[in-house]
Amino acid sequence: MSPSTDTSKRQKYLPVPLALLCLTKELPVDVYWCLYPGADPVLLRGQNIEIDDDEFPKLLEGGVETVYIPRDQGEVFQQHLQENVRSILNNHDVPIAQRMAFLNSTGRTMLQEVFRSDNLDKTLESVSVLSEHMTSLISQDEIVAGELFDVLQHDYHTYTHSYNVASYAMLLAQEMGFRDEAELRRISMGGLLHDLGKLRIPNQILTKKERLTEAEWQTIQRHPTDGFVALAERAELTFDQLMMVYQHHEKLDGSGYPVGIDGDEIHVLARICSVVDIFEALTSNRPYRNPNSTKEALEILDKMAPTKLDGDMVKCWKALMQK
Ligand SMILES: [Fe+2]
Ligand SMILES: [Fe+2]
Repeated sequence: MSPSTDTSKRQKYLPVPLALLCLTKELPVDVYWCLYPGADPVLLRGQNIEIDDDEFPKLLEGGVETVYIPRDQGEVFQQHLQENVRSILNNHDVPIAQRMAFLNSTGRTMLQEVFRSDNLDKTLESVSVLSEHMTSLISQDEIVAGELFDVLQHDYHTYTHSYNVASYAMLLAQEMGFRDEAELRRISMGGLLHDLGKLRIPNQILTKKERLTEAEWQTIQRHPTDGFVALAERAELTFDQLMMVYQHHEKLDGSGYPVGIDGDEIHVLARICSVVDIFEALTSNRPYRNPNSTKEALEILDKMAPTKLDGDMVKCWKALMQK
């Protein structure tokens, strides 16, 4: 594909996982697809035309993973998703793994769009809606962490990482005794926002294969503070959520950043966030290294506890992942 075609495609179309469309009967947007890798998208299905139940699943089976929505219809598409997510998530005829996968696709698509928009009002609105869906799915059904791991994507994008960390943080918090649904929702929202400060870090630093320079490392270390400063005055967020953003890289022995506080000074939700954040980073595919297996990642967490990470939380997370 020539770079110009690639760029204009990115500007004109929003890539959407086809799996996301398999559970809807009608769409208020046009759907395009590429007949071969790198081709210009062509119309697959016009807006508001009824879709056969097996039409999209068949394409998916045939190997089509991504379709495209015109960017100028992006808002309508988001609206449509938000209106339909609740009914799909509450439809117990759809197997739980499929609903988890659907929410994962929806969530990543929503986060990708709002993180890209660089609009804090929009971001908080979407994150709030998404956290509500995540909580309703996780608190209504018996979610097995290993199954959740299997339906998640494990790429290096901040929106993927944030979605995964939020899901894991909720599961770990629930296992640690947090049962109140409103509290779990706040935890999920904190997880979705924990790396907000990273959105301003240039991609070439985040994906750099070589050793980081001192200046680049300092830029990375600023992200908890930058996220905290951006969110601190928002009335819709609680102190607990802000601590997830500000303290998720602090370590119990004081060796973390941005401040280097230790022990109980680190908020309990930040400690939860820290365990699952490291686990997520280790098990995701990064441009500079291959992912660790679940087993390897759990062993690394084990070595970091109880000096750097909360021993009970690591134990709990291991038990959840090994269920
Ligand atoms: Fe972070
Ligand atoms: Fe993170």
